[in-house]
Formats: sequence, structure tokens, C-alpha cells
Amino acid sequence: TSVPVAVVGAGPAGLMLAHRLGRAGVETVVVDTRTRHEIETTQRAGILENDVARDLVETGVSDRVLREGYEHEGVELRFGGRAHRIDFKALVGASVWLYPQTDVFVDLADARERDGGTVHFGVSGTEVLDVTTEAPRVRFTAADGTRHEVRARYVVGADGSRSMCRDLVPEDRRVRYGKEYPFAWFGILTEAPTSAPELVYAHSEHGFALISQRTEAVQRMYFQCDADENVDDWPQERIWETLQARVAGPDGFRLKEGRVFEKTVLRFRSFVQEPMRWGSLALAGDAAHTVPPTGARGLNLALHDVKVLAEVLLRALGDEGDAALDDYQPQALQRVWRAQNFSYWMTQLLHAAPGGSSYDLRRQLGELDNVVATRAGRAYLAEQYTGWPTRAHD
Ligand code: DHB
Repeated sequence: TSVPVAVVGAGPAGLMLAHRLGRAGVETVVVDTRTRHEIETTQRAGILENDVARDLVETGVSDRVLREGYEHEGVELRFGGRAHRIDFKALVGASVWLYPQTDVFVDLADARERDGGTVHFGVSGTEVLDVTTEAPRVRFTAADGTRHEVRARYVVGADGSRSMCRDLVPEDRRVRYGKEYPFAWFGILTEAPTSAPELVYAHSEHGFALISQRTEAVQRMYFQCDADENVDDWPQERIWETLQARVAGPDGFRLKEGRVFEKTVLRFRSFVQEPMRWGSLALAGDAAHTVPPTGARGLNLALHDVKVLAEVLLRALGDEGDAALDDYQPQALQRVWRAQNFSYWMTQLLHAAPGGSSYDLRRQLGELDNVVATRAGRAYLAEQYTGWPTRAHD
């Protein structure tokens, strides 16, 4: 097979790129080691920037987000046991959509199928060859055991936080920036009614908690835990006790409890690899950069990468050739580092550092007060959380 663009990774970034190129008449082959079922059932974040939700509709992926998603016009910051609403609509005229990444994936996979795009799930033995030439190739064994070779003009590595494509940039030509955190998130799904109208980001002396939602009947919640926590040590009673303690306060707020039917420990990491392009290879999404989950930037950032990358690839495949690809990193990377900062900032604002002192805790409460007590502080959070326009200085 020969196509203009081969894509490694069929998560939201890889599939949205294929969809955008497909709309412009450019054929792709997308491969992923995971099965469609595996991707669909791996819980991820649930917040879309307004522009991201709009793009899903306007590019013809699906309008399901508008029918089944929930528009949120603010979030609640909770600290000292009290609630402080950040009103996105009033502060910056924006909102976000609660719509799980797994649903974004389903919509994209269905759209590829509907539009006749080629996607191979469950492949093995993926090899990416000759990325420093104008004829890179992707080889893989399909789920049915047949060996394939795809010749392409460009290869996109959208293969997630454990990317193998990023290793194709030679060690002496790449820089990896990273930060580890001394904690993780324990994530649950529970059969319970919503506890609050909007998401609650809670700071407490016992650590962070996030009360998110999925539907009227299913809720998603997280709490800060040790990096090496084991889900089997957490019976339901212990989970509820922990979550309740983290949101408790003089206002008497309590979470509505229910059966916990999913438990996972989420890894925490900040990571960027530069360059995002090497020869005929471009990296997009988590393959090039990872953020900690606080603030739900990861998916939004990945979809922004591929918006820029699709434009650049179309120009490169047109008259401009490789030179067009030079525009990818400068356009994508500024947002990447802004998101790195925001995700880091939200994380350090709300989590209890293990071994932290009472000074650290008080200082954090001071910072939280600085955020909620002034319009500028609230607007800063609102602006960062709801996303930036495609070009940083628009
Ligand atoms: C969700 C996850 C996040 O990391 C976040 O900041 C907000 C919501 C979620 O899974 O719903």
C-alpha cells in the first residue's frame, strides 16, 4: 500500500488527524497495537474545550457531544472546607464540555469507518523505517496475522505517552524535558447521582480530590494517592471515607455515595520532547508531550497539535513540500509549554506534597485565596482552563 500519510496510534490524536486529512482528500493508514475495545474501555479525562467540541461538530466527526455532553460554565475550587465558584462565562465568556475522551474516540473511530478510512487496531511488530528519507515506511502485522508494509510520504507518531516513534529522533538530536511527581491519582467510577452541579477541585490537608461526572447516574472521582498505590488495597468503604474527608467542611458538604465499579491508579508526569518533527516524521499529542491530569489539558492539547499538523501536512503535500513542515513546531510548541505550565500550576496549587510542612499548607491556602479573591485571579484560571485560541497571540 502507498498513501501520503501513515499514522502510528489510533487514539484521538491519530484518528482526528486522519479525519482532517481525509476531508481534504488525503488518504491515510492508521495503526495501533491496542484493540478498539481496549481503547474504548480505558478511562481517560472528560473535559473538552469549547473550540475542541465545536471542531468535532464542524469538521463532521459527530454532533453527539452537543446531544450527550454537558456544557459547564464554571468549576468549583474547594479549600478550607468552603466552596468558591469560578464562573467561566462571566469572567471570560467561555465554557467547557463534559464529554469523556472514550466517547471522543468512539465518535472518531465511527467517523473513520463511515468515511472509508483505513484503521488497523490490534497490530503487532510495528516498525517505522527511513524517516530521514522522502519515502518512509511503516511495517506491521495486522490482527489477522498478515504482514503489511505501508509506503508514505510522511509518518505521524501519535502513539501516546509510551511512544516508540519519538525514539526515532536520534539521541544526540533531541532533548527530553521532564518532571516526576511524588504522588498519583486514584480514579473511580461510581453508580451515584451527581454530588454538585459542576466539577469540584478540592484542596485539603489530607490531599487533593476531584469530583467529576459522567452522567446523571454515573460519577467520576479522583483522589491524590501514593505513586505506588495498589487498587486492591482499597475496598469501597475506604474509598468513600477518604473522599468524604477531603471535601468535608463547615458547610456540611457530603458526596453522594454509590457502588464503585471501576478503580485505577493514574501515573503523574510532565514531559516534552523537542523537536516535534524529524525528517519525514512528526510527533503529535502525548508522543511529544505529557501533562499531569489536573486541569484536563492532555486531550485538548493533542487535538490542537493535529489541527496545526493537518494544515501543515496539506501544504507540504501541495506545492510547498518539506518546508511547510518547518511551521509545525513553532505553531504547536508555544501552546505545549503554556499547557505544561498550567497543568503544573494546578497540580502544585491543589496537591499536598508528601512530607510538606504546615508552612507549605498555609502558603498554598494563601495562593488559593489569591486566585479566588480577585477578579484577575479567577479570570486567569478561567482563561487557562477553557483554552486558548489556536494561535497563541490571537
Ligand atoms: C476529569 C479529569 C481531569 O483530569 C480533570 O481535570 C477534570 C475532569 C474527568 O475525568 O472527568
